[in-house]
Amino acid sequence: MKIVNTLPRAVTIKEVRVETEQVKTFVLDISVGAKPGQFVNVWIPGLDEKPFSVAMDNGSELHLAIAAVGPFSNKMHELKAGDRVGVRGPFGTRFTCKEGEHLAFLAGGYGAAPLYFFAHEAVAKACTVEFIVGARRKDLLLFTDRIEKLFSTSSALRSSLHVATNDGSAGHKGFNTEVLEEIVGKEKISCIYTVGPEIMMFKAMKLAQAKGIDAQISVERYMKCGFGICGNCCVDGLGVPTCIEGPVMPLKKVLKLRDFGSYHRDKLGKKIAF
Ligand code: FES
Repeated sequence: MKIVNTLPRAVTIKEVRVETEQVKTFVLDISVGAKPGQFVNVWIPGLDEKPFSVAMDNGSELHLAIAAVGPFSNKMHELKAGDRVGVRGPFGTRFTCKEGEHLAFLAGGYGAAPLYFFAHEAVAKACTVEFIVGARRKDLLLFTDRIEKLFSTSSALRSSLHVATNDGSAGHKGFNTEVLEEIVGKEKISCIYTVGPEIMMFKAMKLAQAKGIDAQISVERYMKCGFGICGNCCVDGLGVPTCIEGPVMPLKKVLKLRDFGSYHRDKLGKKIAF
């Protein structure tokens, strides 16, 4: 096993962008060579270390879109430009596509961030993307302005953004999976890519299976070490660590996971139902 970047590097926060009432993007003054779908571990000395999907790595900066949902992320939200954190990684697998494919992206919550990162690569490969972003309300939609801007560039004019909100305040009223179902019902999609709540991804997986469409799914489990040593992120059915064989897994592998869509495990390994 090749073990790389297992020690944290001290990194300065260059900028903090407020995205929604829950999410801020932290622009870090480093490139770790991360690819779309991979994650890094962020360390706040004296507090803890947590994994976060990469929202962008442009060769000079690392962007992380972080929702304030617990003690660690709340502390992150208190940090300002000039503060420093530790960063390890990148870890895990990445999203891939072939030249010229027609793709569907399904993002819920902060899942829009890693898929936005991947959208750059997809359009650079002359792919067209049906990018579906869902949230409870309009003001919680993440990265939709940036996705529209990317799709307004000449190389991506045939790609489209679709929005769904539970309360109907923007786009389709209901679930983003309903928009996905409509799209795959009328268009020839080569592959579905999905990041977000597991129940949403489970529905996407079932749809892909029923329609015979390939899929790449970001399976998130409680990551600790990030490189296959602690066993905390192993999934039932295959027993593989998601930090090594995931988070991005192909459909045929996800179909073999017993826990996907049913339960995950906390930091002590206890089962938590979705
Ligand atoms: S996080 Fe330790 S084995 Fe995956």
